[in-house]
Amino acid sequence: MNITNLKNKVILITGAGTGLGKALALVAGQAGAKVICAGRRKDKIQQAAEEVTKAGGLGTAVEMDVTDLKSVEKGLKMAEKVGPIEILINNAGIITGLKAVQDLPVEEWDKIMATNVRGPYLMIRAILPGMIQRGFGRILNISAPIKHLPKASAYCASKCALDSLTKAVGYELKGVDVIINAVEPPFLDTEMHKGGKKAEEVVAPIMELVAAETGSQSGRIVKIG
Ligand SMILES: NC(=O)c1ccc[n+]([C@@H]2O[C@H](COP(=O)([O-])OP(=O)(O)OC[C@H]3O[C@@H](n4cnc5c(N)ncnc54)[C@H](OP(=O)(O)O)[C@@H]3O)[C@@H](O)[C@H]2O)c1
Repeated sequence: MNITNLKNKVILITGAGTGLGKALALVAGQAGAKVICAGRRKDKIQQAAEEVTKAGGLGTAVEMDVTDLKSVEKGLKMAEKVGPIEILINNAGIITGLKAVQDLPVEEWDKIMATNVRGPYLMIRAILPGMIQRGFGRILNISAPIKHLPKASAYCASKCALDSLTKAVGYELKGVDVIINAVEPPFLDTEMHKGGKKAEEVVAPIMELVAAETGSQSGRIVKIG
């Protein structure tokens, strides 16, 4: 599969209302994909979905809190009205509570792990069986290059866990055309982080991973510049 083959593909992107998720949604829209823009803030995902449609795709906004099983199940019911999900981008993530570990409230740790690890797990758990059954799927987890940064222990631990999830599931998918990988984008200027590259500058190599060729390696953690 290459980028032009995204035409009419059903792609679900979490956290698609802002930042990197929105930039990926727009580029998928330009390639003619049917893009489900998932997230919690209705105004943001609706705006993103409208822009996807204007760009040449079909945008649909679906409210979803990836930490909440019921919300994920309800959102996916809506999303699958567009069609069975062929590509999943687990992009939603947070970095909060930047404090030394002993000062980090337990609730903050739990929230970061719930968003950055439980969320992708819940999404994969729900969507993967259909991909396996249909014999095709692509999953990309948005990780991060920071894995050992002081005062960001929960975020770092969550992205290490996401990498492990990616590799372990990659091994589980031997012999089926469902490919899962993770990507480590550089610092990006988004709601999450001020300064760095524009999200639009990194979408091309990310979409190349999304459009991984049949038979290419699964379970990779790919750093991009
Ligand atoms: N910015 C960087 O420097 C950088 C570098 C490397 C990797 N990353 C990773 O890139 C991804 C995107 O981040 P970004 O920089 O584009 O930041 P962002 O603009 O803050 O995007 C994060 C998105 O996640 C959504 N989200 C958060 N919690 C959610 C939940 N519980 N359920 C559903 N959606 C949720 C947010 O929307 P709602 O609040 O509306 O739900 C938001 O649209 C993250 O995984 C981040 O870790 C970022």
